[in-house]
Amino acid sequence: DWIMKDFAEESIKKLKEKIGDKKVLCALSGGVDSSVAAVLIHKAVGKQLTCIFVDHGLLRKNEGDEVEKVFREQFDMNLIRVNAQDRFLDKLAGVTDPESKRKIIGEEFIRVFEAEAKKIGTVDFLVQGTIYPDVIESGTKNAAVIKSHHNVGGLPDYVDFKEIIEPLRDLFKDEVRNLGRALGIPEFLVARQPFPGPGLAIRIIGDITKEKIVILQEADYIYREEIANAGLDKEIGQYFAVLTNLRSVGVMGDERTYSYTVALRGVSTTDFMTADWARIPHDVLAKISNRIVNEVNHVNRIVYDITSKPPATIEWE
Ligand code: XMP
Repeated sequence: DWIMKDFAEESIKKLKEKIGDKKVLCALSGGVDSSVAAVLIHKAVGKQLTCIFVDHGLLRKNEGDEVEKVFREQFDMNLIRVNAQDRFLDKLAGVTDPESKRKIIGEEFIRVFEAEAKKIGTVDFLVQGTIYPDVIESGTKNAAVIKSHHNVGGLPDYVDFKEIIEPLRDLFKDEVRNLGRALGIPEFLVARQPFPGPGLAIRIIGDITKEKIVILQEADYIYREEIANAGLDKEIGQYFAVLTNLRSVGVMGDERTYSYTVALRGVSTTDFMTADWARIPHDVLAKISNRIVNEVNHVNRIVYDITSKPPATIEWE
């Protein structure tokens, strides 16, 4: 995409002038926006940029390692990965209310980030992956908050910096993806479906344990793998597994089982404000179901969510 190549060159030139020899800090989530913003700044000022990647242990299977690999090995970026799973699990122990989970994770995220940022000291610039739709949305916020979204966007108050840089402020999502491609970011990162800041915490109904996280990661991984195998990954706007808090009776060989029900969610949507449940072919669903119950311990039943938004939301919590 030559338009985005031009845009990249132009932005890099401007960022170089603006930043000079000063220090820049970035909170990397592994999402599309923060990744593209970070790489753009990195192309401009290299190791003057430090990225902090807080791994709260609620990411999808292998995700933390994949993100680290791309930024450390491919781009040779100055990356600090904080493995904070135990901290987050401690704080979340016994918590079942969805909004409480969001609040705890949002606050803990800030605390972990702040502690790392302190070690770096004062920086001149903080990078934000704000894109054009975020700019518009924050101007027209709906009064009725259905779910509070804790994105990295809330950080500036907690970090010692002089100025915010938002290099993607004028771009729509598709343009951000194309810019990412022009910058050489791998397709799996650039084409990534949305993933909520609180991660798997809001896809585990009820309280969160290490064991449940693993069950969900494994089930979700198989689901995503089979959707990709069926060539549907570009068609379905968002798809993921949910670990319901429901256990039911099953039979495995000659044995009675009493295990978890995993729900599969898949939606087609243009704006995530409304969504229709995705008509995944039955044979694809059959394959996914068979694989999950056979390959993932503690799961003996799979259901597919056939509700649209509204009245349901995309996530279960
Ligand atoms: P809902 O479930 O409200 O989701 O229909 C709409 C879109 O928002 C994402 N989502 C979140 N993203 N923090 C986020 O960063 C959150 O707490 C959160 N809750 C929902 C959801 O994945 C979907 O893309």
